[in-house]
Amino acid sequence: MTLDDIASIGRDAGTGGYRRFAWTDADMELREWFAGEAAARGMELVEDGNGNQFAWWGSGTDALLIGSHLDSVPDGGAYDGPLGVVSSFAAVDRLRADGLAPSRPVVVGNFADEEGARFGIACAGSQLVTGALSADKALGLKDRDGLTMAEVMTARGRDPRNVGRTDLLDSIGTFVELHVEQGRSLVHSDAAVGVATAIWPHGRWRLDFCGEANHAGATLMQDRHDPMQAYAATVLASRQLATDAGARATFGRLEVEPGGTNAIPSRVRAWLDARAADEGELDRMVDDLVGQARAAADRDGTTVTLTAESVSPAVEFDVPLRDRLASLLDAPVLPTGAGHDAGVLSPYVPTAMLFVRNPTGVSHSPAEFADEADCEAGVDALTAVVRSLA
Ligand code: GLV
Ligand code: MN
Ligand code: MN
Repeated sequence: MTLDDIASIGRDAGTGGYRRFAWTDADMELREWFAGEAAARGMELVEDGNGNQFAWWGSGTDALLIGSHLDSVPDGGAYDGPLGVVSSFAAVDRLRADGLAPSRPVVVGNFADEEGARFGIACAGSQLVTGALSADKALGLKDRDGLTMAEVMTARGRDPRNVGRTDLLDSIGTFVELHVEQGRSLVHSDAAVGVATAIWPHGRWRLDFCGEANHAGATLMQDRHDPMQAYAATVLASRQLATDAGARATFGRLEVEPGGTNAIPSRVRAWLDARAADEGELDRMVDDLVGQARAAADRDGTTVTLTAESVSPAVEFDVPLRDRLASLLDAPVLPTGAGHDAGVLSPYVPTAMLFVRNPTGVSHSPAEFADEADCEAGVDALTAVVRSLA
C-alpha cells in the first residue's frame, strides 16, 4: 500500500492538483479507501459524528493515535495529509510483521476537513471533537454554493445531530501525526525526518470592502466609490507589515461583485491568511492592516468590515514527548507556520509531530513532493515511535 493507491482520487486532470474537499465525491472515495484499509487489517473502523475515521488495532483506553487527514486545499499536493495516513498504516504493517503485541491500542486516524477548504474553518473535524468548534457554528457554515455543512452531511447519510464533542479524548493517551514538511528546514539540517516543536498562531479573516457599482467609462475617477482600490492598498500594505513583523500575510481568495470588466465593483470580498511567531505579533499585524484598510476605504468613501472566520492559537508541543522522540530518532527539532490537527489536540493529550523532508519546501501546490527514500525514512521513524510508545 502506497500513496499511488489513492493518486487518482480527486486529481484535476488540468492542473494535476488535488481537490479533495469535505464530503465531496473525492472525499467519499477516500473514506471508502480508508475503511477498506482498516478492514483489510482487521482493524475496527469507527467514524464519529463529525466524519473523523479511526481504525483500531486493539481496544481500550490510553490509545496511541497516529494518522493525519486525507482532504486537500484547492489544487493541493499528494502528500499534505495522505502521507501521514498511509505511513501510519504502513507502520502498523511493519509492527505486525515483526510480531509486535502492542501494550496499548494503536489507532490510525483520518481527521475530517483539516484544510477547511469547503467551509472556511481549519481543522473542523478535530476542533469539533474537542469542542473548540461548536456543533451549531459548524453546521451553519456554508460552502461556495451556499450549502450548509448540515445539508451536505445529511446528503451523505450522516446525521447532523451527531456532530459535536465526542469522548475520543477519554480513550486517546497520545497523538503522533506524521506530515510532509512545508518548508526547507530539514533540507538545511540534512535530515530526512524532524520533530515539531511548535505551530505559529494563525488565522483566516474575511474582509468585505463595499462601495458603489457604476459605469467604468462614464464615471470620473474622483466620483468613484470603488472598493477595489482599498483592497489593493491593503494587499500592498500587508507585504510591508508582515515583512516588518517577520510574519506572513496572504490574500489567496477573492470574490468581486458584480464581476464585470466594464463595471466598478460594488463589493470586493477578500480572505486574509495571517501567521506570526506569537499571538501578540499576529494581533498587532492584523490590527495594523485593518487600520490601513479603513484609512484607504475612508479616502474613497467606501467601507471595510472584518470577520474572523478561523483563528488557531499558538501551539507548543509536549516537551517531554518531543525530546523523547527527537532523541529516539536522533532527529532535529523545528517549528512550523502550518496548522495541523495535532495542534488542535495538543492542549488535551500529549501530542507530537514528525516531519518528512520536502526538497523544495513547496506545499499547498501540485508541485509538493517528497523523495521515496525520505517517505520510507518517515515510516521507519513512525514505526520506531510506535514501538517505543506502545
Ligand atoms: C494547513 O495546512 C494550514 O496551515 O493552512
Ligand atoms: Mn495543508
Ligand atoms: Mn496537512
